[in-house]
Amino acid sequence: MYQNLYVHIPFCQSKCGYCSFYSIPAAGKELFEEYVSSMERRMAGCSIAGAFDTVYFGGGTPSALPTPLFERLFLAVNAYFEIAPEAEISVECNPETIDEYKGALISAFANRISLGVQSFSQDMRTFLGRNANDHDVKNAVKIFRKYHINRLSIDLIYAIPGQTLAGWLEELKIAVDMGFEHISCYSLTVEEGTPLAEAHGVDVVDDELSAEMWHAAGEFLRKYGLRRYEISNYACVGQECRHNMNVWHGGTYLGFGPAASSFDGKTRWTQAHDLRKWLLSHSPEIDEISVDCRADEILAFGLRTADGWTEAQWNSLLPEIRAVLPWEAIGAHKGVSELREQGLLLVEPGHIRPSDQGMAFWDNIAAALI
Ligand SMILES: C[S@@+](CC[C@H](N)C(=O)[O-])C[C@H]1O[C@@H](n2cnc3c(N)ncnc32)[C@H](O)[C@@H]1O
Ligand code: SF4
Repeated sequence: MYQNLYVHIPFCQSKCGYCSFYSIPAAGKELFEEYVSSMERRMAGCSIAGAFDTVYFGGGTPSALPTPLFERLFLAVNAYFEIAPEAEISVECNPETIDEYKGALISAFANRISLGVQSFSQDMRTFLGRNANDHDVKNAVKIFRKYHINRLSIDLIYAIPGQTLAGWLEELKIAVDMGFEHISCYSLTVEEGTPLAEAHGVDVVDDELSAEMWHAAGEFLRKYGLRRYEISNYACVGQECRHNMNVWHGGTYLGFGPAASSFDGKTRWTQAHDLRKWLLSHSPEIDEISVDCRADEILAFGLRTADGWTEAQWNSLLPEIRAVLPWEAIGAHKGVSELREQGLLLVEPGHIRPSDQGMAFWDNIAAALI
C-alpha cells in the first residue's frame, strides 16, 4: 500500500547555525537507546502489505547514531518490512561521523548515500557552524567508494555571505572532480530563531546573487553531465533520487520517528516534533486534505521537477484524483492557463512541465495552483 519508507533520526552532533529542522544536538545521547527501542517496537507492530520501492534514512544526522544502534535500526527495517529487490535505500550522513566500521555497515545495507558537506571552504563552514574538515570529507568518500557505493550525493549550500559567484563555481568544480553522481544545491535560508539569524539578522542573503548562482549552477553542471532534474537537484543520467521523485509525484510514504510525515494517498499526518513526546506516543498531527486540494498539490509538486508530468504518470494516480482533475482538464485549469501565459509552464500534448523560469519561480506556480 505504501511505496516509500522514511525513517527519521533526530540526532545531530551539534546544531548548525542556520538549521531550523527538528533535531537534538549531542545532549540527546542518553536517549539514543530509548529511541531505537521505540522504533523497533513501532516497526514490529506495523503490518504493511507489499514491498517498499524506496527507503530513506533522513535527519537530523542518521550517521550520528552509534554503529551498533544503527545496525539495530537497519535490522528492524529488514525484519519487519518487505523491501523490493531493486529498492533504492538512501542514508544521509555527515562526513565527520563516518569511520571505517560505520561506513562498512551503512554500505552493506544502503545503496545510496547523501553526504552533507555544505561547503569545501573552511571559512564558509565556520560561518555555517559545520564540524567537518577537508580530511573528513575525503575520508568519508574514500570509505563509501571502498565499500562499492556508486550512488554518492553531496549537499551544498550557496549564497553564503562572503561567497562570490566564482567561489561558488569553484565549489561545484570540486564536487564534480570528486565524482559525485548527484548534487543537491540549496540557497542559504536564514530563519528567525536560529543562531545565524540572531548573530547576523535574517536578511544576510543577497537574493539577486542567489538567483545568479542558481542559473550558473544549472549551466555549469550541465557541461559535466549533471542535469537539473528538480529545482535544487542535479544528477548524472539515472542517478536521480527515486524516493524524492516518487514523493514529488504524489507517491505514498510511511514515516517513522519524531517529526516524520506519512501520506497514504488521502491523508497526511506528522509525528510530534519532540523526541520525548514521541517516546510517550503523543498523537500525530493529522492534515485532512480535500480531494480537490490534494489534486492541485500533487500537480504543483510534480512541477518542481524538470520533466513535470506525462499523461501516463498522471493517469497512474488514484482514481479519485483523476476524477476531480482528469488529464484532459489540466490544460484548462485556471492556474495552468495563467502560468502558461506568463511563460512559467510549457504545455504540450501528453506532457506538462515548468520552463527554466518556472523552476526558478516555482513559488509562483505553487501559489497559482494550490
Ligand atoms: C535536514 S539536513 C540533513 C542532512 C545532514 N544533517 C546535514 O546537515 O548534512 C538536509 C539538507 O538541508 C540543507 N539545509 C538545511 N537547512 C538549510 C538552510 N537553512 N538553508 C539552506 N540549506 C539548508 C542542507 O544542505 C542539509 O544538508
Ligand atoms: S543541517 Fe543537518 S547537521 Fe546541521 S543541525 Fe541541521 S540536521 Fe543537524
